[in-house]
Amino acid sequence: MAEEAILGFLKNNEQITDSGQFSTEHKLDHNEVVNIIKSLHGFRYIDVQDIKRETWVLTDEGKKYAAEGSPEVQLFLAVPEEGSISKDELQKKLAPSVFKIGCSQAGKNKWVEMGKQVSRKVQHVEDKVKGTLLQIQEGKEIDKDSINSLKARKLIAPQTWKGYSVKKGPNYAPERKKVATDLNRENLQNWEELEFKEYNFNAKGAPVDAGHLHPLLKVRKQFKDIFVQMGFEEMPTNNFVESSFWNFDALFQPQQHPARDSHDTFFLKAPSTTRTLPEDYVERVKQVHESGGYGSRGYNYDWKREEANKNLLRTHTTAVSSRMLYALAQQPFVPKKYFSIDRVFRNEAVDRTHLAEFHQIEGLICDRGLTLGDLIGVLNDFFSRLGMSKLRFKPAYNPYTEPSMEIFSYHEGLGKWVEIGNSGMFRPEMLLPMGLPEDVRVIAWGLSLERPTMILYGIDNIRDLFGHKVDLDLIKRNPICRIGI
Ligand code: PHE
Repeated sequence: MAEEAILGFLKNNEQITDSGQFSTEHKLDHNEVVNIIKSLHGFRYIDVQDIKRETWVLTDEGKKYAAEGSPEVQLFLAVPEEGSISKDELQKKLAPSVFKIGCSQAGKNKWVEMGKQVSRKVQHVEDKVKGTLLQIQEGKEIDKDSINSLKARKLIAPQTWKGYSVKKGPNYAPERKKVATDLNRENLQNWEELEFKEYNFNAKGAPVDAGHLHPLLKVRKQFKDIFVQMGFEEMPTNNFVESSFWNFDALFQPQQHPARDSHDTFFLKAPSTTRTLPEDYVERVKQVHESGGYGSRGYNYDWKREEANKNLLRTHTTAVSSRMLYALAQQPFVPKKYFSIDRVFRNEAVDRTHLAEFHQIEGLICDRGLTLGDLIGVLNDFFSRLGMSKLRFKPAYNPYTEPSMEIFSYHEGLGKWVEIGNSGMFRPEMLLPMGLPEDVRVIAWGLSLERPTMILYGIDNIRDLFGHKVDLDLIKRNPICRIGI
């Protein structure tokens, strides 16, 4: 409608001087006219020029009086034609603001006599305020004095009105031509008759909903890169199911140890036991548990093969390290630096910092004559590559390391020392039964992947990071790579 009106008008007329006037004359909505003008201008059917005019609009208060009448008239009408009404009585009949403003305006207009009793001074009054407000609402021209008094009473406020004057443009036609937008078979066959829509090279493309990396994968890559830069080789961690032997016994963890309880470990029902273990090595492990050797007194208990055979979901990636060190011991010795980052399982109550499955990062170095000083040095090197250069160590206990140290790092953001990992030197009771040479020492450390990821991504509930409650948008929202650490 508006489009026909505009193009049709320009066919016989030089210009539309004012889109506002034009809209009123043609009984069109000005907003709609403006939209059509913009679109026709985009295709250069028309040339336009902006018009700006200061106009007045009613404030909320103004709108109220336009509908209900001004307070002074409301007050006047509440006063009886004959006689008088007490001020208190009058106040009860009106809204507080109407009473207050009404009193002062009606008094000023000399409409009423104000005292303890209120009476009329004139017979009839005209609601000029309401009348003018209604005229402004209709967009009519109003005299200066009225405007000023309504403005002073905050019943109207200025507003800039925007419109256009319109002339024919270079592509003017009395009717808009349909432009072809698709490069389909039909349009291409008729290309000579058609006009194609121009490409808009400034249009934004639809976001590509391609693959997104989970924060854990991104932080895992960061750790992996650091290990590789430091010359570490990745261990094969592709077995979630492990035997108790490699997960615990080979690590000199006694069979009565509470971690081996089903409260802490998931045992498998089927297959419930492992098929093969290296028999001569098993024998040496049994020996060292029961009665020691290599300078150790052992644990002095009855070691049971059935306990070692039980299958479980590995509780730590140190199970993989024990397999790898055993394999290393079966050949002429060469020093090694190994790492792994993979999933482990613990039968724990789930809360905001614990999950029954999570990821461990583990590093180990195996060489002749290594000392605790080497471990501290490597840890400083490793963590400073992550931007954590302030470390502290606290003596700790692990069945398979001696000495053992918890690793703390000063977190600038949190303003405190936070525990970031666990470390130690593997015990001779673990290494010597494997067959490693006596002067070979193994320094090792482990940490969770979730903890640093939560710190880096500002996530305070582990269930928001991993598991079935994760919001997929979290993965889409996060940038592919984080700048900084
Ligand atoms: N396996 C230990 C844990 O689960 C971590 C660790 C690895 C400790 C290597 C010392 C040496 O917490």
